[in-house]
Amino acid sequence: MSQEIQVLVALDREVDRGLIEALVSRGPRLRVLDYLELDGPAASGLGAGEALVVVVADYSEQARDFVVAANRQHPLRPILLVCPSGGGNNNYLGEAFNNGVDDIIALPDDQGGLDPSVSMQLGFAVEKALMRKRGSAAPKPESVRNVVCVLGLKGGSGKTLTSVNLGVALAEAGRSVALMDLDLQFGDLALAMGLTPVRTIYDLVRSGGSLDAGKLEDFLMEHPSGVRALLAPVRPEQAAMITVAFLSEVQRLLAEMFEFVVIDTPPSFSPEVISTIDHSTDALVVAMRDTLALKNTKLGLETLERMEFDRGRLKVLLNRANTNVGIERDDILAILGRDVDIFVPSHRDVARSINQGMPIASQRGSEAATAFHALAQLYIDASEARSRQASPPDPGESPRGHEHEPARAPRQPRQSLFRRARGSA
Ligand SMILES: Nc1ncnc2c1ncn2[C@@H]1O[C@H](COP(=O)(O)OP(=O)(O)OP(=O)(O)O)[C@@H](O)[C@H]1O
Ligand SMILES: [Mg+2]
Repeated sequence: MSQEIQVLVALDREVDRGLIEALVSRGPRLRVLDYLELDGPAASGLGAGEALVVVVADYSEQARDFVVAANRQHPLRPILLVCPSGGGNNNYLGEAFNNGVDDIIALPDDQGGLDPSVSMQLGFAVEKALMRKRGSAAPKPESVRNVVCVLGLKGGSGKTLTSVNLGVALAEAGRSVALMDLDLQFGDLALAMGLTPVRTIYDLVRSGGSLDAGKLEDFLMEHPSGVRALLAPVRPEQAAMITVAFLSEVQRLLAEMFEFVVIDTPPSFSPEVISTIDHSTDALVVAMRDTLALKNTKLGLETLERMEFDRGRLKVLLNRANTNVGIERDDILAILGRDVDIFVPSHRDVARSINQGMPIASQRGSEAATAFHALAQLYIDASEARSRQASPPDPGESPRGHEHEPARAPRQPRQSLFRRARGSA
């Protein structure tokens, strides 16, 4: 850690900036890079600093949106919330933790006589949060990584549809998710998600220098669901610059940064796909209900077998499952030699969702959305079972277990002991 910690300070309009400047500048080892207004043109400055200090008179909707956006943009940068200890909307402080705040420092009610100990407390809290974040970014063991490679040897079988909707369903379940488009020449993940490819993997490779999590984060595009996407180059010839070794490094970093990584692939066993399978923890094969597609799926399953891919980490999704083409479930079982895990029906709303760039998983109530949420739940259950196996519960563990969890998209409010402590005070 450098001698000084560079912090970015964001304030709402109710806060006395002079007092806060005095508070922060007296803190040990803190150097303020910039002061931002919560309702100002913050986005351009949001990338700076090793830590973000948000000072609010009340945890308003505006403060919450700011914290959520900052956390999504830079999940590895700690966020400290400074707010009054008395008054204010304290019921929402528990929510602040769920939104991505790492620690809360309560200012004394009488701000006129700001005690130097508060500056010390802030400095230590920043330092502690930084250490914790860096600690949680330490390599995760293989057993708790979740990298799902979505495969299908037939073009148009629904790999992109599946990748996008699995990603969105996981994010809507409160998980942090990265999607990667490995169809480097003709990838259309951006279109299917309604994202403009402002930055792609091509820009990342061209940016030069060493690759680390902080840098990679800057090249991920954000979807309203909270999913972060590493998009394919916008022109096919740009794919030539991207090597298999570079892709492996990107995938390794994504697996460290997110709870789930979902990788959409082109319809072939190209070198980058084979390397991705080798580095994935799970494979999801997308099949369709027609004889030729099923024959290709069978070939794909055999290839995975030859690669000694763990059968227990393999799932099959049957897309357009309701299409009546004279192939019944028993026939599919006979051809594939295994059963199907998830069925996604064919529906014009599904095609429309792709064309409009609005993932069907967000359109609750449709059969397809239900199928993708069920698929996401299978992965969540499997991941939780593996985590439990990897680390049996420690009876002396801190009750604020979320401090040690990896960064996640703050979609679903989770239980917060802090809120209970406040409520019962
Ligand atoms: N269940 C479905 N219901 C209706 N339309 C579907 C369904 N699944 C896929 N489609 C249609 O098929 C098209 C191809 O789907 P998708 O792009 O997901 O396939 P893919 O396997 O990624 O293709 P490629 O191999 O070219 O990358 C979509 O644009 C969509 O219109
Ligand atoms: Mg595709």
